[in-house]
Amino acid sequence: MQSKPVILVGRKLPEAVEARLASDYDAILNADDTLYSADDLIAKSEGVDGILPCHSEHLSAEVISKLSDSVKIIANFSVGYDHVDTAAAKERGIVVTNTPDVLSDATAEIAMLLMLGAARRASEGERLVRSAAWKDWSPAFMVGTQVTGKRFGVIGMGRVGRVTASRARGFDMDVHYFNRNKLSDDLEAGATFHANVDELLANADVLSIHCPATPETTGLLNAEKIDKLPDGAVVVNTSRGAVVNDDDLIAALKSGKVAAAGLDVFNGEPLDIHPGYRELDNVFLLPHIGSATHETRDAMGYRALDNLDAFFAGKEPNDRVA
Ligand code: 8YV
Repeated sequence: MQSKPVILVGRKLPEAVEARLASDYDAILNADDTLYSADDLIAKSEGVDGILPCHSEHLSAEVISKLSDSVKIIANFSVGYDHVDTAAAKERGIVVTNTPDVLSDATAEIAMLLMLGAARRASEGERLVRSAAWKDWSPAFMVGTQVTGKRFGVIGMGRVGRVTASRARGFDMDVHYFNRNKLSDDLEAGATFHANVDELLANADVLSIHCPATPETTGLLNAEKIDKLPDGAVVVNTSRGAVVNDDDLIAALKSGKVAAAGLDVFNGEPLDIHPGYRELDNVFLLPHIGSATHETRDAMGYRALDNLDAFFAGKEPNDRVA
């Protein structure tokens, strides 16, 4: 019998996903959910045919250059793949895949939670109740920003952006978007396209970021761009921290230019996020849990496995990104 491909699995995955991995592959599972360093990844790649990493495993150009020659595919358990240097992978002939579609609903849920949590001051209110500091009520107490009927601006109208826009329509929001290309009428679903980001920003009472982190989008939301937002806008980020200039967003949150922000992703996460966020009342902060539901975690695992299955069957994986 032909031996099964050896797969190095980056993190502990859902039971059903690990069961499929164990039955179809010679899987090196990570039972303790240890976070592998660059050196660990390099050392563990010996004799491995494929790696199934999460965004927490950094496959930089240097790491990729030192991986064992046996590695032929990196099948990510994530839609974003900024943790993988795709140019370096291409150079070594390593195929790279991701897991699109399956996490759009879960991420859109978190975007709505962040929008409402930020606009309606949920963190602040929760802290008041929890710490027994809630002493009084008055009409002026904890007044926030109403989002119903306002303009919902999306940067990056891909799958997650579109599902999130459709959820925002549930609050009668008028959707505007900036994207590399204008979408078909069908996908646009009545949203207004802006060919330039400044124009989108001027129409975003709530700005929701859904573009990937690339050299072009890094630091995109800086002071100059924030200035284009309507006064008192709400900023939501469920994509990658890299898209935001933290110093500039924090300054805008302090001045009131941005009324509130809901953030699930950060530069330097998890250990080295900008300390300024922790001191602000007008932020609603979550620890990168956009796709953290049981259903979506399973679906992400199956999608990564479908890509591995196709690859090892000699076919083109559906979600090849490099
Ligand atoms: C995942 C994400 O939890 O898929 C992505 O790009 O950002 C998250 O929703 C994480 O990346 C899993 O590796």
